[in-house]
Amino acid sequence: MYISFDLAEKHNIYNQLVITMSYTNPGKLQNPASLRRKIYTFVRERSLVELLKEIWTNGIPLSRRLIGLYFDKKFDQIYQVDTCGSIHLYELSVTRSNTESCSIYDPIPARTIRNLIANIPRDFSDYNFIDFGSGKGRALFVAAEYNLQKIIGIEFARELHETTLKNIKQYKNPNQKCFDIESICCDATEYAIPDGKCIFFFFAPFGADIFSQVMDNIRKSYEQNNRDMVILYVTDPITHPFPSQEIKCDGLFTKIRGGNVPFDIAQRDNLYYEIYQIN
Ligand SMILES: C[S@@+](CC[C@H](N)C(=O)[O-])C[C@H]1O[C@@H](n2cnc3c(N)ncnc32)[C@H](O)[C@@H]1O
Repeated sequence: MYISFDLAEKHNIYNQLVITMSYTNPGKLQNPASLRRKIYTFVRERSLVELLKEIWTNGIPLSRRLIGLYFDKKFDQIYQVDTCGSIHLYELSVTRSNTESCSIYDPIPARTIRNLIANIPRDFSDYNFIDFGSGKGRALFVAAEYNLQKIIGIEFARELHETTLKNIKQYKNPNQKCFDIESICCDATEYAIPDGKCIFFFFAPFGADIFSQVMDNIRKSYEQNNRDMVILYVTDPITHPFPSQEIKCDGLFTKIRGGNVPFDIAQRDNLYYEIYQIN
């Protein structure tokens, strides 16, 4: 008896809430872009039970995305760039149809990539840092804090590449140590690996099919010119499985470190990393 009264009471409060939202500032509710209208529509279309279920299942991932976005915006503000936002590839012009195994641009949280680069046991001064699938360049700008020889981003979505070019001009960081930053607009499989020592960075950019073609190019480049090479691979293994077989490249590379990425409040997903070096 007590429980049913309690539930009825809660329903009553819930209905009041929906009604109150529709009466406070009705002008804003007419505007399809208004956040208030979106919240109103979302609440109105669901029963209380459905709403509670929604909060239970999607509330945590949603809060993680919002926290991530807050830190992304902070990064952009501090360094005067535009690297934030999750963008679906269907909204972008992509140079070829290699999109099946990748669907989204998502920047890596700055603190995460800082921690991971610091984990690479090398003196970087004569290394190139190459980000395959560099998006708007977030990883490039964090890498610029290290004394690398050159930093290169490979991105096949023209709009993202163009944003990176603008970012390179605008980027301001008193801790910048590497000033040679380049963005190249091409498919990762078509990029010619440069001579010189290389650190290859991958933040879940594409599936194993494309990755194995890139690894093939890396192997051929190594066979022509033996030199040190390191791979840093980061992924959320639930959505983008780790390409365990392809990365070893028939025994050319050996894993030296790996595990869960150290905690970073800006991470939207639980990330996992592995670092490989040439044998
Ligand atoms: C998850 S985002 C990573 C962004 C960036 N590396 C970072 O850490 O901030 C993956 C990026 O890979 C790009 N990408 C996917 N497939 C590609 C391909 N075949 N060639 C070049 N870029 C690709 C996407 O457009 C997207 O920007």
